[in-house]
Amino acid sequence: MRIPRHIAIIMDGNGRWAASRGLPRVAGHRAGVEALKRVVRACGTLGVRYLTVYAFSTENWRRPRPEVDALMRLLVEALRREVAGLSAQGVRVNSIGEAEGLPPLARRELERAQAVTAGNPGLMLNLAINYGGRRELARAARLLAARVRAGELEPEEVDEAAMAGALYTAGQPDPELLIRSSGENRLSNFLLWQAAYSELWISPVLWPDFREEHLLQAVREFNARERRFGGLKDHPADGRA
Ligand code: IPE
Ligand code: IPE
Ligand code: MG
Repeated sequence: MRIPRHIAIIMDGNGRWAASRGLPRVAGHRAGVEALKRVVRACGTLGVRYLTVYAFSTENWRRPRPEVDALMRLLVEALRREVAGLSAQGVRVNSIGEAEGLPPLARRELERAQAVTAGNPGLMLNLAINYGGRRELARAARLLAARVRAGELEPEEVDEAAMAGALYTAGQPDPELLIRSSGENRLSNFLLWQAAYSELWISPVLWPDFREEHLLQAVREFNARERRFGGLKDHPADGRA
């Protein structure tokens, strides 16, 4: 079986999971952290190299203040509790998103997690926190514009490779497989550039119920897909670029 080098996941459905049990939404987020731990472990075992998970979007600030606060607290707690275990698995934590917009404590824990795990050789875990695809693209454009103004780059050199190199995921392969739990059929501003040719796999399972078996099912179905990248099957790409 071909294992994707990079898997991206929109971890959705925590609130509905909690509501269906008569629990507060934060209980769903808590259970969601446990689901993420299982999936990180499973990805490590499978030999996936990069796992990018959507934990908090630039739009999630629209939620009620108590939920946002609870999510930020949970982030801090989970990082404090889990970093040593992740490190023992060889996981390298990397945050993608606008860290400057996070509460200082959350930002500090993220920085610490990245520093502690920086030398690890295993799975790269990209935590998308205060992440928005449009925000990321605007930032890339801004970075490149600044380099043009500084005379380091010609406007003509702003091409796809230059853009990719100015994203949070610079140097990483694009995700071959993008999973969304809880049955929603949308990207919700996740990895707009990087997911251009990702295979999408939507699961009805709510994120806190997501297990290794669901990940394996996604990878198996990914293997059965035919990826054409705009070309034709069994036809060498001999047309013009
Ligand atoms: C995903 O679960 C977690 C975050 C967005 C932080 P939701 O909180 O969106 O759960 P639902 O979609 O309301 O069920
Ligand atoms: C996407 O889920 C963001 C995360 C999983 C962190 P949302 O629940 O915020 O997405 P929408 O609002 O249903 O599009
Ligand atoms: Mg949701």
